[in-house]
Amino acid sequence: MAGSSERVTAMREYAGRRRRLMQVMGPGSVAILPAAPLLHRNRDVEYPYRQHSDFSYLSGFPEPEAVIVLVPGRRRAEFLLFCRPRDPAKEQWTGPRIGPEGACRLYGADAAYPIDAVDDVLPRLLEGRDKVFYTMGSDIEFDQRLTGWVKQVRDQARSGVHAPVEFVSLDHHLHDMRLYKSRHEIVLMRRAAQISALGHRRAMQQCRPGVMEYQIEGEILHEFMQHGCRSPAYPTIAGGGANACVLHYTDNNRSLRDGELLLVDAGAEYRGYAGDITRTYPVNGRFSPEQRALYELVLAAQLTAIRQVRPGKHWNDPHHAAVRTLTKGLVELGLLKGTVATLIKKEAYRRFYMHRTGHWLGMDVHDVGEYKVGNAWRLLEPGMVLTVEPGLYVTPQRGVAKKWWNIGIRIEDDVLVTRDGCEILSRDVPKSVADIEALMAGAAG
Ligand code: GLY
Ligand code: MN
Ligand code: MN
Repeated sequence: MAGSSERVTAMREYAGRRRRLMQVMGPGSVAILPAAPLLHRNRDVEYPYRQHSDFSYLSGFPEPEAVIVLVPGRRRAEFLLFCRPRDPAKEQWTGPRIGPEGACRLYGADAAYPIDAVDDVLPRLLEGRDKVFYTMGSDIEFDQRLTGWVKQVRDQARSGVHAPVEFVSLDHHLHDMRLYKSRHEIVLMRRAAQISALGHRRAMQQCRPGVMEYQIEGEILHEFMQHGCRSPAYPTIAGGGANACVLHYTDNNRSLRDGELLLVDAGAEYRGYAGDITRTYPVNGRFSPEQRALYELVLAAQLTAIRQVRPGKHWNDPHHAAVRTLTKGLVELGLLKGTVATLIKKEAYRRFYMHRTGHWLGMDVHDVGEYKVGNAWRLLEPGMVLTVEPGLYVTPQRGVAKKWWNIGIRIEDDVLVTRDGCEILSRDVPKSVADIEALMAGAAG
């Protein structure tokens, strides 16, 4: 974490979130969240560690082998943290650990214990509590340990110990909180989108025939790291030609050819928040007439969809608008035959557009939060952030003229719902044909 005032702001945010969560949980309850496990890439080589987003959201605590326990109304300590103890011998190899004392001093825990004490201490924290808030099913090993602790408390029933009677999904409340971004989070998301945009601009400027897809990925990563991001928010997709039609293509190992389009879907992770941007452009810097026709159609669909992003609109309105525009355009270009209304009803567009128009965006690239409330699509409200990303993917197929084959296009922006409309966080990357061609030609470089 950078400056100390930024640190103070972040710590205040975490404390506020814990307070709000504990208010919802109510007295007589306890919440338990384990840290994300460390994963191995091979033998003794670990993947770079990333904390679970829920865990970060409530504490900012970055280490594995940790457990948060929240006990609303408990007089001695409401926020407890179990973590790895300090260990000079181990720290010589893998760097400093925060330790229980640091968990209290730096992360605001009311009490902290070494992780090895969890089997002794946690059952005692369950005693006399009615409800346990916990996310079941995402860490099977931890599920079993928790079951064991609850059983241990139940086994003492005859000595008058009251064991929890109710398990409540922690996701439900916590993820609803995460869906509404605070001012502080919006600052971070704006920055994540700006840095993501810098990566895309650099990729556009470096793109030319003969470059490998992974070199484009490298240019993007370079820009992310130059601006304080240690990692992309997800594996970069850099697909030329037919690869642009593979929705989650990540091999990125082919060379780019003259006359093809390149689809790049890449986003930086900045202080735990994701950018998620896609741009599609010609490898040689000039759109062919067919590429241009389909590109203009996807762009029209994207702009129409973004106009649907404002308070009071439903989650599905941008998708619906994109589908309408795409279907109409596909009929005009001769790629679909029939009346627009019937084609939409029969979902005929799915031959060329098989995904939805967006998703929530936040700490996770496909962020948490419900899309429906009961049976109805959710209403958009200020503070929500979503992507708007229509596309068209024309794989070689019967009934489609060859001139369209292997054109894959997606245009994706990150959009914040504001009080009176929306803000496009990722607006710094060109997306009109003229602006893209100008940047690639070096005119606006
Ligand atoms: N990058 C994944 C997505 O756009 O949903
Ligand atoms: Mn996306
Ligand atoms: Mn994306």
